[in-house]
Amino acid sequence: MSTQSLYKVDADFAAKALVNNEQYQVMYQESITDPDGFWRKHGQRIDWIKPYTQIKKTSFDDRDLSINWFYDGTLNASANCLDRHLETKGDTKAIIWEGDDASEQRTLTYRELHAEVCRFANALKAQGVARGDVVTIYMPMVPEAAVAMLACARIGAVHSVVFGGFSPDSIASRIIDGKSKLVITADEGVRGGRKIPLKANIDQALNNPDVTTVERVLVLKRTGGNVNWQAGRDLWWHEACEGMADQCPAEEMGAEDPLFLLYTSGSTGNPKGVLHTTGGYLVYAAMTHEYVFDYKPGEIYWCTADVGWITGHSYMVYGPLANGATILIHEGVPNYPSPKRLGEMIDRHQVNTLYTAPTLIRALMAEGKEHFDSFSGKSLRIMGSVGEPINPEAWRWYHEVIGHGHCPIVDTWWQTETGGILITPLPGATDTKPGSATRPFFGVKPALVDNEGNILEGATEGNLVMLDSWPGQMRTVYGDHERFALTYFKTFRGMYFTGDGARRDEDGYYWITGRVDDVINVSGHRLGTAEVESALVSHELVAEAAVVGYPHDIKGQGIYAYVTLTKGTEATEELRQELRQWVRKEIGALATPDLIQWATGLPKTRSGKIMRRFLRKIAANEVTNLGDASTLADPAVIDTLIESRLNRN
Ligand code: PRX
Repeated sequence: MSTQSLYKVDADFAAKALVNNEQYQVMYQESITDPDGFWRKHGQRIDWIKPYTQIKKTSFDDRDLSINWFYDGTLNASANCLDRHLETKGDTKAIIWEGDDASEQRTLTYRELHAEVCRFANALKAQGVARGDVVTIYMPMVPEAAVAMLACARIGAVHSVVFGGFSPDSIASRIIDGKSKLVITADEGVRGGRKIPLKANIDQALNNPDVTTVERVLVLKRTGGNVNWQAGRDLWWHEACEGMADQCPAEEMGAEDPLFLLYTSGSTGNPKGVLHTTGGYLVYAAMTHEYVFDYKPGEIYWCTADVGWITGHSYMVYGPLANGATILIHEGVPNYPSPKRLGEMIDRHQVNTLYTAPTLIRALMAEGKEHFDSFSGKSLRIMGSVGEPINPEAWRWYHEVIGHGHCPIVDTWWQTETGGILITPLPGATDTKPGSATRPFFGVKPALVDNEGNILEGATEGNLVMLDSWPGQMRTVYGDHERFALTYFKTFRGMYFTGDGARRDEDGYYWITGRVDDVINVSGHRLGTAEVESALVSHELVAEAAVVGYPHDIKGQGIYAYVTLTKGTEATEELRQELRQWVRKEIGALATPDLIQWATGLPKTRSGKIMRRFLRKIAANEVTNLGDASTLADPAVIDTLIESRLNRN
């Protein structure tokens, strides 16, 4: 490894940091050799109503799968994010909000946020929401999104946030699976100058005859745009809150009571409801937020993720608020109305920590660094990256142009399922290498295994697994514990399989190479190729479809679809556009295929299984070394597909 690509921790930075390298080594060892002792101590970082005496009872055996942390303790997540700060930080800003249009600004102190959450929690109760009920949240990036989540947590309701970019069908399937009683939304959202018809999408979702559980829809007035109204079902947020008290007792929850559901894509079937519980999740989100971002009281912290993703849950809401941080919430996108926006916001709000995704960095890079000529960036201390592998070129650009060469970058690897960051540098402890997520966080035991599940030692490459549990781990797939076992613990017995491949170098650093299953990652958004295929074949003119990811300069991966039309259908450009719109309507804009290749046939084995490795290579324009095609029923299909391939970059 050349020293040029090693970015050493600055000695002054390390001296002031929460942990330096020696401390990391000691704490990591302790966390692995004595997990009970380690977590007994660190679990106390949050407030418990009844302190736990039990720490960890976990089994990764797929026949007896169970994950329990701090399981005889009780607490409330909302009280941990609000009430316990009131005495010392009541007047400190909890949320700074900037609208899509920068002229709109709001702040809420911890006292104000507490009052808002209590009022809304009382409103939820008045609407009949009780402990254990599932509440669907489909909101724009406004403070009320966090208020809604924390209000649910306060009364023991389980929130299920659905990303505002998802279609009515996607919302409906999540509502049906969660058996949600109440939906919280807004009239419209605003992003990049465009209005998003959130209430209209909810109306359409609720028109689905299979949605039978929703009794009430609470609607925040954000834009004042026109909306349809169903009397008896729909109620304005502000009307529901009228006359509600600004105090609301926080429900005493068991550590293992559900906190939220969040749906995520896998290689097969519909998105899974990932269930996170209260105690372990909160301890882990708060602890990782503090250590990974070397968070210091008083700092302004900006995570650009949408609240509809796990990053928005753990590192915009729960982790930072449990630590009493001031969070910046941005309604829009950080490169609108111009690429200058990101820098302007950092300077305007004196942001100390920025946590964002490689896709944004690549998009800004493509626009040119002159947009940062007037950017000061003096306040910035630490920068994070999440969601997909960051290519070294983007890493260096981030480091130089945004971080002015002195802000450490934490490339944090984790998943919806993991609840919090598992592999990451710690800014005062870990020398970094562009493109590597580096080393495990405390208590995390990663390993690389071959396809038979044998653990590989030393510098090598393999499937990334975890050998032991950590407090933030998901507990089950909602309503389907068997699917939980099957998806994560059966491929390699006794281990949690991440679905990612990784390389480990001679320094023990991990380099995530990407998914090894049929999940693709488009601009950091996770999608199952099966979902896109099923949307395509639901169109009456499509006979068959196969979808793969291909390398995309900005998005990381783009969506490449091979489509076989029904007999006699003409393959026109109009139909191609129609199919793109069709998928967009079925799933959401993020699933729109970038490229659709007409395929008269797909490469299949004699038993009819589609050989995706050929399709991946053709989509990636790697057509010279395709490998053995002798098992194909009709090898000539490959030549035809190669000839008419669309990505020739
Ligand atoms: O493939 C990995 C990639 O994103 C997947 C998880 O996606 P999701 O559940 O949507 O959560 C995203 C935010 C935590 C992983 O399986 N991924 C996430 N972070 C990184 C990453 N790949 C490489 N480097 C990362 N830092």
